[in-house]
Amino acid sequence: MGVAVRVEGLTKSFGAQPVWADVTLTLPAGEISVLLGPSGTGKSVFLKALVGLLKPDRGSIWINDEDLTEVPERRLYELRKLFGVLFQDGALFGSMNIYDNVAFPLREHTKLAEKQIRATVTEKLEMVGLLGAEKKLPGQISGGMRKRAGLARALVLDPQIILFDEPDSGLDPVRTAYLNQLIVDLNQQTDATFLIVTHDINTARTVPDNIGLIYHGHLAMFGPREMLLSSTEPVVRQFLNAQRIGPIGMAEEKDAAERQAESAAGVELPPLPAIQRQLRPSDGRPRRAERAPGEWCRTHGVPYPAGSFREEVPV
Ligand SMILES: Nc1ncnc2c1ncn2[C@@H]1O[C@H](COP(=O)(O)OP(=O)(O)O)[C@@H](O)[C@H]1O
Ligand SMILES: [Mg+2]
Repeated sequence: MGVAVRVEGLTKSFGAQPVWADVTLTLPAGEISVLLGPSGTGKSVFLKALVGLLKPDRGSIWINDEDLTEVPERRLYELRKLFGVLFQDGALFGSMNIYDNVAFPLREHTKLAEKQIRATVTEKLEMVGLLGAEKKLPGQISGGMRKRAGLARALVLDPQIILFDEPDSGLDPVRTAYLNQLIVDLNQQTDATFLIVTHDINTARTVPDNIGLIYHGHLAMFGPREMLLSSTEPVVRQFLNAQRIGPIGMAEEKDAAERQAESAAGVELPPLPAIQRQLRPSDGRPRRAERAPGEWCRTHGVPYPAGSFREEVPV
C-alpha cells in the first residue's frame, strides 16, 4: 500500500527567479493524482523537490512523520528508495541494453544474486509489456517503448510512491491511450501513490483521482477530479477545458486590456463539457482508490454538466 505525501508551504526559487510559492497539498495514499500546468511553471522542479534532488527554499514534505527537507543526507538516501521516478525522456543509459537498464537500481541498491535480479527484471518487463526487448539498446526502440522501459526501471525496487514526468509527451494519441491504461492497471496492481505531471488535458480529465493545477507561481487548486472538472474558477475552467477565452493567454497571463476587451465584447465562456467516466483497469476489477462516478458532485451538491458519467458503449 502506498504512503501519503503531505506537502506544506513549499516554495522554490532559482536566485531571484521564483518558480512557485506556498504549495500545499496531500497526495492521498494509493491514489492517482495529476499535476497540470502550462510549460515552464515548475512541474518538473516540483517532482525533483519531492525526491530531494532540489532543495526547496521553505516548506516541508512529510512522509509518515518525517520531513524530507529536514532529514540527514543518509536518511534521505533511504527515503528516496520509497520513490520510483519516470523522468520525461525515460533517462535510460544509451549504451546499456534494456535488461541492464532495468536491472541497474537492483545492482546499485541491493545485494541480490543475478538469478533473483533476472526474476524481478522479467516480472517488471512483463508488467509494462516489454518482454522480448531485453537485448535492445534504447536507441533501437520507439519512444513509447523507451517510456515503458523507464517505467519498468522505476518499478524495480517496488516503490510506494511513483512519480511520472510527462509520460505522454512526444507520444501519439494511440500510444498515450495505451500508456494511460498501463498507468491505471499498475496502480491497481501496486496500490502505490501516483503523481503524474502532464499538460495533456485528456490524460488529466480521465486518469486521476485528484487533479492539481500550477499557474502563475502558485497551486491554483488541488482536489478530487470531479471537483476540478466541475469548477467554474476561471483559470481552472479555462485550462481543463482547453479554452482560449479566460485569464490564460499566449504569454502566461493575458494583460488587463486584453481581458477587458474580451468582457466588453461580451465574450462568454462556453458551457462546461460533460465529465467522462474515469479510466478503469483493463481486467474490470476496481482499484482500491476508485470512487463511484458522480459521487463527489452528489455529496457536495455540485451540479455536473449534462451527459456526464454516461456508461460508454464499446464499439
Ligand atoms: N536547475 C535549475 N537552475 C535554474 N533554473 C531552473 C533549473 N531547473 C529549472 N529551472 C527553471 O525553473 C522553471 C520551471 O522549470 P520546469 O520545472 O522544467 O517547468 P515545467 O516542467 O513545468 O515545464 C523554468 O523557468 C526553468 O528554466
Ligand atoms: Mg517539465
